[in-house]
Amino acid sequence: MSASQVMRAVRITGHGGPEVLELTEVAAPVPRAGEVLVQVSAVALNNTDLWTREGAYGRPGDPKARSGWRGPIDFPRIQGADVAGRVVAVGPGVEGSLVGSRVVVDPAIYDADGPDANPVGLMGSERDGGYAEYVTAPAERVHDVTESPLTDDQLAALPTAYGTALGMIERGRLQKGETALVSGASGGVGLALVQIARARGARVLAVSSGSKIDAVREAGAHEVVDRAGDVAEQIRTAAPESIDVALDVVAGELVSEGLPLLREGGRWVIAGALGGYDVTFDVRRLYLHNAQVIGSSMHTPTHFGLLMDLARRAEVQPVIAATFPLDQAAQAQEELSRRGHVGKIVMHP
Ligand SMILES: NC(=O)c1ccc[n+]([C@@H]2O[C@H](COP(=O)([O-])OP(=O)(O)OC[C@H]3O[C@@H](n4cnc5c(N)ncnc54)[C@H](OP(=O)(O)O)[C@@H]3O)[C@@H](O)[C@H]2O)c1
Repeated sequence: MSASQVMRAVRITGHGGPEVLELTEVAAPVPRAGEVLVQVSAVALNNTDLWTREGAYGRPGDPKARSGWRGPIDFPRIQGADVAGRVVAVGPGVEGSLVGSRVVVDPAIYDADGPDANPVGLMGSERDGGYAEYVTAPAERVHDVTESPLTDDQLAALPTAYGTALGMIERGRLQKGETALVSGASGGVGLALVQIARARGARVLAVSSGSKIDAVREAGAHEVVDRAGDVAEQIRTAAPESIDVALDVVAGELVSEGLPLLREGGRWVIAGALGGYDVTFDVRRLYLHNAQVIGSSMHTPTHFGLLMDLARRAEVQPVIAATFPLDQAAQAQEELSRRGHVGKIVMHP
């Protein structure tokens, strides 16, 4: 495509409610040196889209400040971290043979080169994302999945939810035969945790609620406890031999109640705080039992490579809850914020 072409995109020009999402025509991005141009076939939504739009992340020392997760956002910004599509052009210095490949974009912006770098930025937040017909990305962040049996919608569901899940599982060093506790199990990250932990040969004990419990069991959980009841008591009954690794996006009281249920040398990995940020626990529970509390943000390049291997072999099967056209981005985000769904919400530009 030529540099002068325009494309349809949904962008935000400031923080606010769904009304700040505007469908517009903008110049299609041109791949710079080392970049490729991807025609977006599917873009999946994540909680971070809502928080970024609202500016709900706060700042250290000022939790009520309107801010993106890494600080101020440059507006206008095209949202969307999770892109599957096809490479249609390459910038200077990039192998032309990539054109035509079916790809998934690793949305992370890393703090360093190398396989264990930390994510410090995100496509759709610190650079323009996939709520658009086209997006650019560094060539080394684009993974060829042409041969994967997964659909484009399923591939788009992978980067943030499954990348975060795999990052948690790797950082928690979950091994075959161990018992994993998964919270928020019906959500995007939670279902990914259930599927990947199960594929790894772990015994999966999930926490979910109401009518979503059956779907979590179907996704592969061996046991599902209802968070409407006494969660600690249900976990004790379901896993009397205790938990090896907790994979937690809820935090809050679950941490105080759950830490005593970890086995000697157990790991409690936290990647979200839907149940509350302020957590109290008895530190003797850590040092006397060699337990670890591990913070986990997204994935490393190595984790993302492992995820793409799972995608090529279709060893995970993302569940698609609903699809929307791009011009219904506001409705799609509102559907996400209602949290009534199981699995991922995907838009088609
Ligand atoms: N650290 C990272 O890199 C990273 C990356 C992605 C997401 N996250 C965070 O991880 C969390 C989950 O993200 P997601 O995209 O999976 O969310 P999601 O799709 O909305 O799912 C969250 C699930 O958690 C449960 N839940 C919701 N509110 C809860 C509450 N107050 N207490 C207990 N459980 C609750 C619900 O499941 P049930 O009703 O079945 O219990 C819900 O389906 C969010 O906080 C998100 O910001 C972090």
